[in-house]
Amino acid sequence: MADKEQQVHPLKPADKHPRSDEESASSLQSKELKRKKRIKYAVYIAAFAVFQTAVILVFALTVMRVKNPKVRIGRVTIETMESNNTGAAASFDLKFIAQVTVKNTNFGHYKFDNSTMTFLYDGVRVGEAIIPKARARARSTKKLDVTVEVNSRALTTTTGLDSEMSSNVLTLNSQAKLRGQLELMKVMKKKKSPEMNCTLTFNVSTRNLQELNCE
Ligand SMILES: *[C@@H]1O[C@H](CO)[C@@H](O)[C@H](O)[C@H]1NC(C)=O
Ligand SMILES: *[C@@H]1O[C@H](CO)[C@@H](O)[C@H](O)[C@H]1NC(C)=O
Ligand SMILES: *[C@@H]1O[C@H](CO)[C@@H](O)[C@H](O)[C@H]1NC(C)=O
Ligand SMILES: *[C@@H]1O[C@H](CO)[C@@H](O)[C@H](O)[C@H]1NC(C)=O
Repeated sequence: MADKEQQVHPLKPADKHPRSDEESASSLQSKELKRKKRIKYAVYIAAFAVFQTAVILVFALTVMRVKNPKVRIGRVTIETMESNNTGAAASFDLKFIAQVTVKNTNFGHYKFDNSTMTFLYDGVRVGEAIIPKARARARSTKKLDVTVEVNSRALTTTTGLDSEMSSNVLTLNSQAKLRGQLELMKVMKKKKSPEMNCTLTFNVSTRNLQELNCE
């Protein structure tokens, strides 16, 4: 400390002397230099602020943006399929494994509860199954195998079924709604309830799935 004071001290009296023209010119120059430096710093700070804002914006628009997960039936494996279109009233009885996929494109996992998947024929409920609770990891697709049993016993009228079955087609509609939470950065939680609506068209004569369409 003492050393520093001694070094600084001899400079001070020089400042007090009246300035010559040369001295004032150089001090003007140094003032100009300082001004330029200040402008340079201001530009740096402004540029940094703009950069920082851009980073935050990109972050907000990509990482923190929450998109609804997508639920659909990805595949159907038929176990048993019985149908009858020989009598007056057509009927069907099916058992199959539906692979339900939950596609999560977010940067956080999606955790959902048990939910019911309903199967309808012409608006009438003909069967249901439970999609078990699970967790779809960040930016990945969770696949769940669900065993489904549907039959025509709940139908009060088979006029629609009769005509469909006579052309060897069986069309079912499947709906489900998941309820769960999306967790971002371990702190932000958002409720998301994606819905599924799929149409399954079976070929009755070959006993397989002919078409699968999910909205
Ligand atoms: C189909 O229906 C007819 C008349 O309802 C019945 O006699 C027949 O046994 C049924 N066949 C099968 C395989 O269920
Ligand atoms: C979820 O479903 C499973 C069977 O699939 C059942 O054991 C469990 O109790 C259910 N949990 C809730 C919270 O309903
Ligand atoms: C499901 O999709 C079908 C056709 O693709 C449509 O007619 C029906 O209204 C939809 N149901 C719901 C609940 O969105
Ligand atoms: C069922 O599948 C068979 C064999 O692929 C095909 O010839 C027939 O046209 C299909 N039936 C319907 C109604 O599409």
